[in-house]
Amino acid sequence: MPARRGRPGPWSGGYDVRVPLELCRPSNDRVASYLAMVDEMRTLGERIWEWQACLPGETPAAFVQRVLRAEHSPAPGRVPSTVHWAVLDGEVVGRIALRHVLDENLRRFGGHVGYEVRPSARRRGIASEMLRLLLQTPRARAIGRLLVTCSPDNIGSRKAILANGGVLEKVELVEAIQRDTCFYWIDAGVAGARSPS
Ligand SMILES: CC(C)(COP(=O)(O)OP(=O)(O)OC[C@H]1O[C@@H](n2cnc3c(N)ncnc32)[C@H](O)[C@@H]1OP(=O)(O)O)[C@@H](O)C(=O)NCCC(=O)NCCS
Repeated sequence: MPARRGRPGPWSGGYDVRVPLELCRPSNDRVASYLAMVDEMRTLGERIWEWQACLPGETPAAFVQRVLRAEHSPAPGRVPSTVHWAVLDGEVVGRIALRHVLDENLRRFGGHVGYEVRPSARRRGIASEMLRLLLQTPRARAIGRLLVTCSPDNIGSRKAILANGGVLEKVELVEAIQRDTCFYWIDAGVAGARSPS
């Protein structure tokens, strides 16, 4: 991974910043590693949506096809989205999804971007780097201004957003989840143009 801007983080001791993080499209050869990341999250009791892994009776290969298909033919009621897996040293260490448009629900909560980092790989700058790389993709640039939401107490997510040029619009109670939510906007043109570090 490229050296991060600013001061070194707490990860700098045990983390090789020369290893590049790659955003890859979901594929059969990486699906086992992705599913291991999901298992890690589930074991810790973290929320992961059912559709983010194999549905009952769905093979890993069919799951990969479903995720890829969602870019053009999403499930009913969902908007098209592009999913990338973040790969570090051959392992999937994160997932980042870019929703192409905002429907009413996503405008109220969820925004354009959703991401998770493998628990054992956290606090090494991976969320920040995934977001930085995503902002450079043609799809993100074509969308332009991206809404990214998170809970005020999600420090890691908020810092990753701010490190990528996020501008806080408001903090608002979202009725549907009964929680305060931060609404940030990131200009992909500006953020993406910054620093190939
Ligand atoms: C939130 C999440 C994506 C952060 O991933 P990450 O790879 O650990 O984030 P980063 O390493 O890029 O951290 C960014 C900054 O936040 C800090 N940070 C990360 N997690 C933190 C925590 N739990 N407490 C305090 N600071 C934290 C990092 O030290 C870093 O600080 P710095 O930039 O000042 O050095 C990850 O914890 C996760 O997957 N959580 C569950 C799913 C989730 O919340 N997704 C986001 C929904 S909006």
